[in-house]
Amino acid sequence: MKKKIFSGVQPTGNLHLGNYLGAIKNFVDLNNDNQNECIFCVVDLHAITVNQNPKELKSNIHETIATFVASGIDPQKSIIFNQSQVSAHAEIAWILSCVARMGWLNRMTQFKEKAGKDKEKASIGLYSYPVLMAADILLYDSTHVPVGEDQKQHLELCRDIAQKFNNDFKVKDFFKVPEPLIKKEFSRIMSLKDGLKKMSKSEMSDFSRINLTDDKDQIINKIKKAKTDTLPLPSKIEELEKRPEAKNLIGIYSSLTNSTFQKSIDKFAGKNFSEFKDDLSDVVVDEISPISLKIKELLEDKVFLEKIVKDGHEKANEIASKKVKEIHKIMGF
Ligand code: AMP
Ligand code: TRP
Repeated sequence: MKKKIFSGVQPTGNLHLGNYLGAIKNFVDLNNDNQNECIFCVVDLHAITVNQNPKELKSNIHETIATFVASGIDPQKSIIFNQSQVSAHAEIAWILSCVARMGWLNRMTQFKEKAGKDKEKASIGLYSYPVLMAADILLYDSTHVPVGEDQKQHLELCRDIAQKFNNDFKVKDFFKVPEPLIKKEFSRIMSLKDGLKKMSKSEMSDFSRINLTDDKDQIINKIKKAKTDTLPLPSKIEELEKRPEAKNLIGIYSSLTNSTFQKSIDKFAGKNFSEFKDDLSDVVVDEISPISLKIKELLEDKVFLEKIVKDGHEKANEIASKKVKEIHKIMGF
């Protein structure tokens, strides 16, 4: 049986090394395995749960498609499309919002973090965001969903929604209950300025993240300025637990060299950070610079990018429309 892979990325700009190591790099590996059918979605409806400038949104949508392709996702092999162009997503999100329970959504930590203190002013979309995400996944009978650690709770909610729908309407296995694909290690890359905070698109300081559009000099400079402590690099994994910045940088190095924490520690134990940072810069530049150059090249060819999502849209729409028809029948519409 082929695995059906689905994942989404919000077109909210500043795609960074966390997005790459936590998600996009895995998309590429899954795309390369012929056993998989992959769908990668630019989730623009999710992006508007917070205010967006329409011009910037358009340009961020292009940048996200370009990043998928520049990173190695082959649009001939995998479906790449825009969520807003397949109306089934919004429609099925409504139906699933009548299945999901308030109590389930009230537990979502991402809403609490994003809404902050003034929950009254958060959009309803921000609150029901995980229901739309469930619609994305369930419409395509997805079996596996590659994401970073921060999306684990949303995927559990998606599983609960699928099971409740199947039970409520007595349609065993109608919605496939998807498995999360979250890497055990390196699925949560932290800020370069604070090892306890997630690397994030929305963090004010650009020095907190390595953007996938950064050039060689920017990468080297950001790694040079990355926060560290004053001790030499440790020789035991346990010592990293109290040193979040060291743990994060060694994690990034290990992930990019397809190695383990232990092997990286063995290599750098007792050395000082400046020596380690030189090696780290080399591996980050080797991986990210070609992607950054390719993104810039692809962004010059909007016709090509539009063609990718137009083709993707046709394929995605066909699959989703079939599922919608079946859902209508089940519901009694
Ligand atoms: P988003 O930018 O929120 O649409 O996230 C796109 C993908 O990147 C999701 O699978 C996230 O889980 C993943 N992701 C975002 N930030 C990080 C991070 N700091 N570390 C690892 N994965 C991340
Ligand atoms: N919520 C995800 C994020 O912020 C993006 C997303 C939307 C997604 N729909 C999805 C991820 C479906 C996986 C599957 O990262």
